[in-house]
Amino acid sequence: MKLGLDSKTAVVTGASRGTGLATVQTLIDEGVRVVGAARTITPDLEKSGAIAVAADLSTSGGVSTLMDTALAELGGIDLLVNNVGAGDAVEPVGFLDTGDAEWAAIFDLNLLSAVRVTRAALPSLIERRGSVVNVSSINSRLPAAGPVAYSAAKAALAALGKSLAEEFGPRGVRVNTVSPGVVRTAIWDDPDGFGGKVAALAGADHAAFLEGIPAAFGITTGRITEPREVAALIAFLLSEVAGNITGADHVIDGGTVKTL
Ligand SMILES: NC(=O)c1ccc[n+]([C@@H]2O[C@H](COP(=O)([O-])OP(=O)(O)OC[C@H]3O[C@@H](n4cnc5c(N)ncnc54)[C@H](OP(=O)(O)O)[C@@H]3O)[C@@H](O)[C@H]2O)c1
Repeated sequence: MKLGLDSKTAVVTGASRGTGLATVQTLIDEGVRVVGAARTITPDLEKSGAIAVAADLSTSGGVSTLMDTALAELGGIDLLVNNVGAGDAVEPVGFLDTGDAEWAAIFDLNLLSAVRVTRAALPSLIERRGSVVNVSSINSRLPAAGPVAYSAAKAALAALGKSLAEEFGPRGVRVNTVSPGVVRTAIWDDPDGFGGKVAALAGADHAAFLEGIPAAFGITTGRITEPREVAALIAFLLSEVAGNITGADHVIDGGTVKTL
């Protein structure tokens, strides 16, 4: 199957590692010119061939830096991947230990970054009949499975995708959501990250905790998802091969969600 993305332009947020980096690499392999943003420009992002922008996307100033650079470098935007999310404020704590500052930080990064980036990209997306993918999470369907503000922000992001698909579909812009289950990224692998903290709270060895995730989360395939698998789904949805798919939330979780 040919995706036909050659010579398109794209913006990918949260591009320095994990699913964002895999998406950058997949799109570049498909011939797309990509601007990728994160706070850190990692060697992998530099090597990818993307134009890398250092920006804190939880702020409107950071989003302006990204979008000014993207529009100047690319001349217009065909494809947008609002991937940035989770972030430093997501901790394995309950509702009573999540204060206003944490709610605001989590919503800024997981919802408002997508609002701001999409608002800036839309004139170009409309002109070019472009396509958007927002990266949510199965936490929007299983909110009890994760930190409360993160699950709520991801559910709001899925709702935003549906609203945008309805409002801008008649003007040629498709908007889809991709909701992964557990993906093999720093969120889980980093001993100081969310997964490391969950393991420590459970008094478990980090490596043993990671190995036990498929059983603990009820992943039907018996394994977690690789970032390149999420990237492949994103690239498909961005492409004209998926030209009549819009306003839908696509789960990629190895069968974790058991309901229809
Ligand atoms: N991994 C999973 O199991 C999983 C499951 C469901 C959904 N997701 C979602 O998938 C998306 C990608 O996550 P991932 O697993 O690839 O996470 P990750 O490995 O932690 O990568 C997150 C990316 O976002 C960037 N980032 C974080 N805070 C930022 C900020 N304030 N401004 C700009 N960039 C920032 C990071 O770079 P810097 O830190 O250098 O800025 C990095 O490039 C997120 O939306 C996440 O919620 C992940």
